[in-house]
Amino acid sequence: MLVLGIETSCDETGVALYDTRRKLLGHALYSQVDMHRDYGGVVPELASRDHIRRVLPLVTQVLEQTNTSLETIDAIAYTQGPGLAGALLTGASISNALAFARNIPVLNIHHLEGHLLSPLLSDPAPDFPFVALLVSGGHTQLMHVKGIGQYKLLGETVDDAAGEAFDKTAKLLGLDYPGGKLLADLATQGQPGRFKLPRPMLNSDDLNFSFSGLKTAAALLINKQKANTQTRADIALAFEDAVTDVLVKKSIAALKITRLQQLVVAGGVGANSRLRQKLRHHLVGTGIAVFFPELEFCTDNGAMIALAGALRLQQLNEKPPGSDGSFTIKA
Ligand code: KG4
Ligand code: ZN
Repeated sequence: MLVLGIETSCDETGVALYDTRRKLLGHALYSQVDMHRDYGGVVPELASRDHIRRVLPLVTQVLEQTNTSLETIDAIAYTQGPGLAGALLTGASISNALAFARNIPVLNIHHLEGHLLSPLLSDPAPDFPFVALLVSGGHTQLMHVKGIGQYKLLGETVDDAAGEAFDKTAKLLGLDYPGGKLLADLATQGQPGRFKLPRPMLNSDDLNFSFSGLKTAAALLINKQKANTQTRADIALAFEDAVTDVLVKKSIAALKITRLQQLVVAGGVGANSRLRQKLRHHLVGTGIAVFFPELEFCTDNGAMIALAGALRLQQLNEKPPGSDGSFTIKA
């Protein structure tokens, strides 16, 4: 079965073609980041208007690059939410129109389900069940993933998401939007141990997170220090260290509680090298395998939506009549 995936939840237009037999056939992405940079964040109205301009040319590009005709597509999957209303509406309208014109099913995919399943695009891929650490600009969650549509929330942030804390702290450090990757780059120049920032909820009795206090602590430190380049790099490193320590400790606690042997890291912050290094280091010799999506599939993309759609379609076809394959996942 051949599924066209369309992602338009925020500031990236992603389109991909996934075949249940031949896997990912092709994908294309257009990032609006340059357009939003001047405003220091995503401007929803500009985002929706740009998605309108980009989706169809990207669909054509993916069809051409994979030598596929629209006539051979079996279903269209699009991001239903969460995300910016106007941006989501663009993807939903175009997907429904294409599906209507072709008289094929349209699948509405939860954006986080796309992120959760994105490591399945890699080789080797994890098998079900696994623990997923979902760390994006809008979410920080630990999930027990039993199978397609079987997701149990183990813990989540009680305030800011990890990516949001990265972006806000990056802004305080005078870095451009989106700052997560830029802060991580700056941190590579930092002196370890010069500053120590708090690790909120590190020892709490649950699998929840909190990052807003850490961002405030970083803000106070930035205001107190002379902002020369070395000091900024040292603060960036202290911040990155604090966030990644909490993410690592809670992920390991989730693995212990669930007794699962596989950890999957998904979402934009999953691209962070220090997080990857620390997780690999802590899991060496434990028998637990850790999986990261390819860097291009960590942040928003169409491939994860096409994949989630294809797996859902496959599951619907395998399930007895009357079952709609629906799932619950907290937005
Ligand atoms: O998953 P994503 O593309 O969008 C959401 O669904 O939110 O994640 C974007 C987030 C942003 O906050 C961005 O700053 C962060 O991921 N990010 C990073 C890195 N690359 C992207 N944070 C830390 N280190 C990185 N290397
Ligand atoms: Zn995302």
